[in-house]
Amino acid sequence: MDCFEAIVTRRSCRNFKSQPVEREKLNRILEAAIYAPSPANKQPWEFIVTQNAKYNTRLKSVADLTKDKLADRSGWKWLPAFSLEFLVQAPILIVIVGDPARNGAEQFLDEPSPGYLEACSAAVQNMQLAAQSQGLGTLWFSLFEKSDVRDIFNISQDKDPIAILCVGYPEFIGKAPVRKSVEDKATFLD
Ligand SMILES: Cc1cc2nc3c(=O)[nH]c(=O)nc-3n(C[C@H](O)[C@H](O)[C@H](O)COP(=O)(O)O)c2cc1C
Repeated sequence: MDCFEAIVTRRSCRNFKSQPVEREKLNRILEAAIYAPSPANKQPWEFIVTQNAKYNTRLKSVADLTKDKLADRSGWKWLPAFSLEFLVQAPILIVIVGDPARNGAEQFLDEPSPGYLEACSAAVQNMQLAAQSQGLGTLWFSLFEKSDVRDIFNISQDKDPIAILCVGYPEFIGKAPVRKSVEDKATFLD
């Protein structure tokens, strides 16, 4: 599968098979992560990988509580029915942990941008595409309180648990959510 095909066929996967993922495929996903760009090549990431279901169970139970809280706060009617079952199904969880101290020169701009966060996001995307190209599904999960995830995965206070990537073989893949067109989103300047 070429790169563009992986990009356009990738979908968020919220139904995983229990089928285990081969070690070589997991290694390739992690290899893709470390090749992501980062400001001044600071590589401001660490990846905590687990295939132990006890972590899935703990994560799901705190995430359900967080979801209830967010449903209350937002008033979003669809949120209570949004199932987090994929958190227990996914055979692999990869926690992407950013180091807020590892930024590039952009941190000294008048309006600084969070370089470490942007780099970690690039790493997540690389992992999603590496998974896709190997027939695996992923879900970028972010609906968690950082304090809960620090607690479950033993992450220190000075590090930022940015996302959890659920990885596994897809049971089925939903329809692609509609994208606005390139014409809508790109401006070509003369
Ligand atoms: C920063 C970020 C956070 C996300 N967090 C969640 C999440 O917590 N739960 C979830 O189900 N999907 C999450 N997603 C996936 C998006 O819902 C999904 O990418 C979007 O709806 C487009 O669908 P697609 O990935 O199938 O193209 C997240 C995506 C990004 C980039």
